[in-house]
Amino acid sequence: MGTVTQKKTTKKSTEKVEEGIAVEVPAAPAVEEEKPAEIVVEAKKKILFVASEAAPFIATGGLAEVIGSLSKALAGKGKYDVRVILPLYQDIKKDYRKDFKFIGNIFVPLSWRNQYCGIFEYTADNVTFYFVDNEYYFKRPGCYGYYDDGERFAFFCRSVMEILSFLNFYPDVMHCHDWQAALAALYLKTIYCFRPEYQFIRAVFTIHNIEYQGKYSLDILEDLFGISYRYQYLVEYDRCINLMKGAIECCERFTTVSPTYAGEIKDPYYSHGLDPIIRRNEFKLCGILNGIDPDYYDPATDKSLFAHYSAEDLAGKAVCKEELQKMLNLPVKPDTPIIAMITRLVTHKGLDLVREVIEQVLRQDVQFVLLGTGDSSYENYFADLARRYTGKVVSAITFNSDLSRKIYAGADIFLMPSKSEPCGLSQMIASRYGTVAVVRETGGLRDSITPYGLDGNGFTFKNYDAYDMLYVIGEAINTYHNKEAWSRLVKKAMTTDFTWATSAGYYEGLYLGMLK
Ligand code: GLC
Repeated sequence: MGTVTQKKTTKKSTEKVEEGIAVEVPAAPAVEEEKPAEIVVEAKKKILFVASEAAPFIATGGLAEVIGSLSKALAGKGKYDVRVILPLYQDIKKDYRKDFKFIGNIFVPLSWRNQYCGIFEYTADNVTFYFVDNEYYFKRPGCYGYYDDGERFAFFCRSVMEILSFLNFYPDVMHCHDWQAALAALYLKTIYCFRPEYQFIRAVFTIHNIEYQGKYSLDILEDLFGISYRYQYLVEYDRCINLMKGAIECCERFTTVSPTYAGEIKDPYYSHGLDPIIRRNEFKLCGILNGIDPDYYDPATDKSLFAHYSAEDLAGKAVCKEELQKMLNLPVKPDTPIIAMITRLVTHKGLDLVREVIEQVLRQDVQFVLLGTGDSSYENYFADLARRYTGKVVSAITFNSDLSRKIYAGADIFLMPSKSEPCGLSQMIASRYGTVAVVRETGGLRDSITPYGLDGNGFTFKNYDAYDMLYVIGEAINTYHNKEAWSRLVKKAMTTDFTWATSAGYYEGLYLGMLK
């Protein structure tokens, strides 16, 4: 027969020469027999996000943006089958809801209950979203704040576990976010891991904010959550059920949304009581900085803006400022810096510092614009400030995404002096829109904004002190008046990389490390 069998050889040849250096390359393996080329297709790793909100469908805060943009960034790599599961709230926008596809229904056991669970599906940007339907639990305005939130999210998490077998989809990694999804990790590790299909699912838990832990009375562990008292030791903390603590104990790895916050939550000042648990589980903790979706926040295309601009051509930013001043009934003054805050009006956002020294800031030639809602004492304070400083201060006690974008674009300085900040996205969005951030060095603020004096992209202060803040605001205002330095700084802020490129890579490393 015509086939020539070459002898196998291990001899190395030195045929490749790089920059004059001979490099050893192994000789081509001898051909023993002809085989049809084998195409090895590696199965995509399956990642499931379990979360209580996701943009663009339903959002009350940063969590939703992270779920929406991180899932998209991971799926964009083409190597992962990324799916997200959410409750089907009444408030999910109609524009999306009309395209959801009903794929079936099941009944979900929750202790002695047996509840209807409809399943809807929707795909966008290579991410498959599932929505858990039960009108008794989710046909209400808003997402949270009901007396039975514990039961609502227990139902949601238990549904997630049951839906996996309905779909015949068993993820390699189930990534649960915040306390509302903590029970999914607990159910996996106490009930479902005994079923063969579930036994290799790894669980990751991410803390977006340690303040909300999901605390309940111990006597409802079996009756409401359907978890046997045998596992009480996993969830019990401070004589209560603490769902966040339970998820930390159960998951293979847990993360938080910035490296600095990962360090801070080991400290009682930041931990809302959980620091002993965090320290004990430190070996499986890491902090990964959030990113933002650069297409969703792009001053060159944003439809809410009065004019478009980019780091190369800032002309449109001046138009955005002028139109914002007109819209808010502020005198149109191109050379007066606008200091903006877009925030929930709660103490940990640093509002007590602002209250202490804002009138000293207002003695200078500045304008101050605030957008947000929250505690009535702050709402009243800022509404009153605007009345006393008409033509200088505007307080919009509301939340409006369109107005927020107009402010990000039209302002000059963005103030975010948080007492604690797991990550914070506003300082990144403001920077992307060329509005220079003034932040306290905590959590993700410290990891994303670096001080101007050290060739950074913003202004920072360390101690939680109103006069330290006042000092750096002064520094920012002085720099603003140096046109050349300011425009360099604006460009620096705008070109800082806040995309998911790096951080999605860290999540990838985390997942792959767990699957080894
Ligand atoms: C929470 C945190 C915020 C973080 C967001 C997304 O809202 O308070 O700092 O950016 O989650 O992770």
